[in-house]
This record gives sequence, C-alpha cells and structure tokens, in this order.
Amino acid sequence: MKNIYSNILKVNNRVLSKIINSLKKKELVGVPTETVYGLAGNAYSSKSVKKIYHLKKRPYKNPLIIHYYNLKYLKNDVEFNKNFFKLYKKFSPGPITFILKRKKKSQLSNIATAKLKTVAVRFPKNKVLRKILKSLNFPLAIPSANKSTRISPVSAEDVAQEFKSSLKIIVNGGPCKIGLESTVVDLTSKPKILRPGLIGPTTISKALNKKIKINQSSKIIKAPGMLKRHYSPGIPMRLNQKKAKKQEAFVVFGKKFKKGKNIFNLSYKSSLNEAAKNLYKTLRLIKNKKYKIICVCSIPKTGIGLAINDRLAKAAK
Ligand code: TXA
Ligand code: MG
Repeated sequence: MKNIYSNILKVNNRVLSKIINSLKKKELVGVPTETVYGLAGNAYSSKSVKKIYHLKKRPYKNPLIIHYYNLKYLKNDVEFNKNFFKLYKKFSPGPITFILKRKKKSQLSNIATAKLKTVAVRFPKNKVLRKILKSLNFPLAIPSANKSTRISPVSAEDVAQEFKSSLKIIVNGGPCKIGLESTVVDLTSKPKILRPGLIGPTTISKALNKKIKINQSSKIIKAPGMLKRHYSPGIPMRLNQKKAKKQEAFVVFGKKFKKGKNIFNLSYKSSLNEAAKNLYKTLRLIKNKKYKIICVCSIPKTGIGLAINDRLAKAAK
C-alpha cells in the first residue's frame, strides 16, 4: 500500500536518532508494539505526559502504562516482589503489564500514574521499541495510540488516521503481531487479572503456582480500562448473534458462515489468535465503510477468546 501519510517513517539509523531526539525534547512519537500501536512520551516529564492526555482526550484519572527496557531501568521506580520475579522471568519482554507499588523516590510523573501509589509497568517485545528504550535514560509512558474510548490502532496508518498531522512521527513497524492490548496483572496483593489478554489465567496460574482470578466485579476498580464504554467503534453493536440483516455488518468466526459483502470473517480456520489480530482492524474497516450497526457472532471463550469477548463487551456498551 502506498504511504499517503508523510509522518509515517520506516526506521533506519537517521530516523532512530530523530525519534530519540524528539522524545528527549518531550515530544510524542507513535510507536509499534507487539500488542497495539502506542503513543509514547517521557514518563519522568509531566510536560510530556500532559501532551499524551491532551492528544488522546484521556481523563486524568486513568493512569498510563510505563514501558521499560529491563529490570535495571525499573529499580528506582517500584518495589519488586516474588510474584513479579516469577512472571517477569517467564513472560518479559512480552504482552503483560504488572501493577506494582511505587517507590517514594521515583521520578515518575504523578500525572502519568494518576497520583496512585501503584505503577503499571511493561517490557514490550517489539525490537525497534526496545532499541529506543535502551538508548534513553527515562522510561516511556505509552497508552494505546487512539482517542480515548475508541478502537486501538494495529497499524501505523491507523495511528495516522487517529491523530492526523498533530503527531509528527509515527514509527512504521508493520501490523501488530497480537492485535489486542497486554494482560494487566495486579501484583500489589493477592494476584488478580485486571484486563485479560493473550497470556491467560491458566498460563499465569501455572507460573505463579497458584490460582488467579479475573477481577470482574470489584468495587474498587483498579483499571479504569475495565470500566464502561471502551474500544468502541462508535456504532451500535449486537453481540452473540446468529444472523444479521443485509444492511448490517456481520462479524463472524469460522467457515460455517457464508461469504458476502457485509460478512467480515475474523478467522475462516477458527483460529482465536488470528481473530484477535483481525478484530480491531475489522471494526475500523466497518466503521470506515459507514455501516450503521455491527452484529457479531458468538466467539469461544477459551484462550485469547476471553480477551476478545472482554473487548467486544466493552465496545458494545
Ligand atoms: O498492550 C498494551 O498494554 C498497550 C501497548 C501500547 O503497550 N498499552 C495500553 O495502554 O493498552 P492503555 O493506556 O490503553 O491501557 C492501560 C490500562 C488502562 O486500563 C489503565 O487503567 C490501566 O492500564 N492502569 C494503568 N495504571 C494502573 C494502575 N496503577 N493500576 C491499575 N490499572 C492501571
Ligand atoms: Mg487503550
């Protein structure tokens, strides 16, 4: 596809130093990760972090995930614990975010962490992003690169569509491998999953050697991402449908569904991983095609299917 956006850049050494300079100057950069594309800024700088909230129109009470290169870069900001070491060793770098207690001496912007005593930390796997993180002496606050409550971007073009020319640099890393946001695990007390993702409860339970629950109806809502409308295409959605009307977009899964102009199959071969990768891309396409209603068939609730169902339920609210 022809690149019609002049702010989408392919990485080479010159572009890499441009990106690093921009981040040092407290500017924002669109970056690829293995999950979804993100909007990156200096997590130690409130000036930089404010730009993120402003551009995304994100409420200040919703904290950001802080992205690091490795443990060494993190030790001044948070308290480590045994469960964290177990999961870090097994899954990082990778699509998992840990909630840990913040250290008093941490230099993290209070705005980035919404004045909480905890911090969400993640070690992304994308090679370009890791190169960037390694060459900076500050971590990056990186939310998904979409306007608040909208669908997360899974390609550089999606990011350009969200922010137009208000974002000067978007790093082109191709389509995201996973296509859904990281699993968020609270490790500040008894481990809980706050947001499901590719790394599921069974895998995490095994690594911790104890059962872990998905926190669904907690009164103290720790991840505002668990709340209300989110990941929304901005069109009414009906879930778990067997049929759709002609003028509706029908999102389906598996080969038992016929082909058709208004049929969008997330995975003919019934692969949940493929469906996860296609979900946001498909919802964005349907929105761009100006459909007024989206119907979705039922999607199995196993593996990453749990996360797909979680995002669909929030998108439909
Ligand atoms: O895969 C991902 O995690 C992507 C990529 C770009 O890294 N990032 C991402 O960020 O999804 P964002 O901002 O769209 O979602 C962050 C989620 C929100 O639901 C937020 O409420 C939660 O993490 N969060 C952040 N800090 C938290 C904290 N201290 N306690 C509980 N939840 C927290
Ligand atoms: Mg998001």
